[in-house]
Amino acid sequence: MTKEELIAEAFKAMENAYAPYSKYHVGAAVLTADGTVFWGANIENASYGATNCAERSAVFAAYSRGYRKDTIEALAIVSDGERIAAPCGICRQVLSELLKGDTPIYLSNGYDEMTTNMTELLPMQFTMEDVIR
Ligand code: THU
Repeated sequence: MTKEELIAEAFKAMENAYAPYSKYHVGAAVLTADGTVFWGANIENASYGATNCAERSAVFAAYSRGYRKDTIEALAIVSDGERIAAPCGICRQVLSELLKGDTPIYLSNGYDEMTTNMTELLPMQFTMEDVIR
């Protein structure tokens, strides 16, 4: 699957966003080594802090099916914002543990596009090695 195809999957996932509060819609798609694609969308809540971001939803879905960082090949994150949405701080912490540092992350809003990865997005990561002694 190409980068553009994975981004198209993320735009389809974005249609399932549940965002009655922010009205900001985000979609994500994880591509695994065997070609399976997992969708995620942002799911908000009246207790705002309980909201789940699209990229965490997608990566959690892949992990829930047994995939791990070694079998995740790429992540696409798209939004309907004027600027491309880079993952929030909570997502950066989560994705830094659940994706390899060099796994490509494609960001798009349909106009602008960029490719990044977790090494770039979260320097000086707090990791499992810090906790488990
Ligand atoms: N959001 C995401 O789903 N991913 C991001 O990378 C940025 C923020 C969601 C959370 C909330 O539902 C809405 O966007 C506005 O913050």
